[in-house]
Amino acid sequence: MYFPVIDSTNLWLLDHKDALCEYDFVYTDFQTAGRGQQGTRWQSKKGENLLCSILLHPTQEEQQHPFRLTMLCAVAVAKTLVAQELECKIKWPNDIYIGDKKVCGMLLESKGGVVVAGIGLNVNQLDFDTDIPNATSMRLVTGKTYQVQELLSSIIDQLKVLRTTDIKEQYMALLYRTDGFYPYREVQVSVKPMTIAQDYVGDEFRAKIMDVADDGQVVLQHENGTIKTYLFKELKYIII
Ligand code: BTN
Repeated sequence: MYFPVIDSTNLWLLDHKDALCEYDFVYTDFQTAGRGQQGTRWQSKKGENLLCSILLHPTQEEQQHPFRLTMLCAVAVAKTLVAQELECKIKWPNDIYIGDKKVCGMLLESKGGVVVAGIGLNVNQLDFDTDIPNATSMRLVTGKTYQVQELLSSIIDQLKVLRTTDIKEQYMALLYRTDGFYPYREVQVSVKPMTIAQDYVGDEFRAKIMDVADDGQVVLQHENGTIKTYLFKELKYIII
């Protein structure tokens, strides 16, 4: 399904999930209310990028371990970029990076037993707003222009093939910053009821990513040898 303009492909697919089959998808040239991680907005210039959502029906195993679908989608996009001769990495949990810049973000949302995998891949966009300094696109890296529909069908093919493989191994092999110690900060998320949540950002430290647990928490080894695990909201990457 294609719409020139839509509020959010994730919202549309969540609304129509009951009439659709697994791997059915929706894509658009422009979203008026594109949804990003942690309640943020996803911004993308009209007609330049891939903005899509794909319907997944989790198996019993995937229902018990929802992070498997997060890994699946990240690996599927990464392999699609690798097939286009782009060297990319997965920044935990599911951003795709080229060098130290983000080329793709994903938002998986579940409702009534289905999962909607929303993918925002920067394809042909050449300039990004100054409030998103860390963004890049496929075209910015290679100078080539790409067909978004071709990329979408490659991602869907990859999802189908990868669904039958050991996804954790492939995810770990593509993970960003597993090769040494890098700077991070801990974020303490305040959960005071009835007040605006405020995050307290701790001192910078250096650590190495050792593993990603079954529940999706990242396992870091600090320079003094201490091993700690973090939830998504609890860790901030310091990137340049
Ligand atoms: C992130 O913040 O990194 C996740 C961004 C996910 C954006 C995509 S664009 C297509 C789909 N529809 C949405 O509203 N969001 C996702």
